[in-house]
Amino acid sequence: MKDENVKARLVARDEQTEDKQLDTKLRPKTLAEYIGQTQIKANLHIFLEAAKQRHEPIEHVLLYGPPGLGKTTLAHIIAQEMGAAIKVTSGPAIERAGDLAAILTNLEPGEILFIDEIHRLNKVIEEVLYPAMEEAALDLVIGKGPSARTLRLDLPRFTLIGATTRYHLISSPLRNRFGATFRLNFYNNQEMEQIVERSAKLIMVKLAPGAASEIANRSRATPRIANRLLKRVRDYVQVKGMGAVTAELAKAALDQLAVDPLGLDDLDRQILRVIIEKFKGGPVGLNSIAAALQEEVGTIEEIYEPFLMQLGFLARTPRGRVATAAAYEHLGLEASLSKQEKFV
Ligand SMILES: Nc1ncnc2c1ncn2[C@@H]1O[C@H](COP(=O)(O)OP(=O)(O)OP(=O)(O)O)[C@@H](O)[C@H]1O
Ligand SMILES: [Mg+2]
Repeated sequence: MKDENVKARLVARDEQTEDKQLDTKLRPKTLAEYIGQTQIKANLHIFLEAAKQRHEPIEHVLLYGPPGLGKTTLAHIIAQEMGAAIKVTSGPAIERAGDLAAILTNLEPGEILFIDEIHRLNKVIEEVLYPAMEEAALDLVIGKGPSARTLRLDLPRFTLIGATTRYHLISSPLRNRFGATFRLNFYNNQEMEQIVERSAKLIMVKLAPGAASEIANRSRATPRIANRLLKRVRDYVQVKGMGAVTAELAKAALDQLAVDPLGLDDLDRQILRVIIEKFKGGPVGLNSIAAALQEEVGTIEEIYEPFLMQLGFLARTPRGRVATAAAYEHLGLEASLSKQEKFV
């Protein structure tokens, strides 16, 4: 379902190839540089300091939340703050129990093992992880059939950091073995502005007053998107031969890229327009919307609808999709009030 079209979407939260280019430069390296997530930072600070004072590795940490909010960044910061080395792998990369055993036996004492997309570990591999997390031990099964026996190997004390966008897909035995779990939240406008300003400094782009908020507001409360839009604005201003990025230039660049003031792109708006103009605001079935736009049902449902619902522009009802009064207003269309009152 995630075809190339969707992947290349400017306002996608998922990581795209172009994001990797500036990533090392833009990624905050310390807790102090990490903007927002105030509560997580405060808790993490205590958690890290306490472990440091006891000269112990920290407990296992699970980070979850939507893509692009800073989970991978935070995992590296934790390692940095602990002065610990970090090994990085991911759920889908660990195919066999032996792969994980090899990784675990090669860890140094106090080292951090970061498993991204940890919800994609299979059951057999998860079971290898349980004694490793609980008792720093590895149970190897030697031989097959009736003569099989287990051999227990001691592992160095290490910390596992898991990250996932799909918390509910992690089995509860695995979830319960983490000493701390942090859920990352979307960033507010002020934090998003600070992120844009920080990134602009790092890539040496001069932002005039108002330019940061122009970019921040269109970034769907997601730092990864803010960085991507900032790069596009930088390119635009450079090609136009202008110096500093003014609010007007930022707006012109983003308008040209069809990212509107709330971060909606063309298809987002088309979905709302189809519901409003072709189907009188709904309720209308997802299949009819997809057919009218010649798009895949799954693409609309999984890639586009969540943000429209997050903004309160779209509601899913038992009888189909409904465009809300806020959606009419955003598109500058007149809502038929009786309809709105009926369904929203
Ligand atoms: N709190 C923050 N302050 C400043 N920049 C941030 C912050 N969080 C994230 N970023 C920026 O956003 C980018 C994306 O963050 P990151 O890769 O950590 O997201 P993620 O949650 O791991 O996403 P995914 O679920 O796709 O793996 C980072 O490269 C970093 O530049
Ligand atoms: Mg990540």
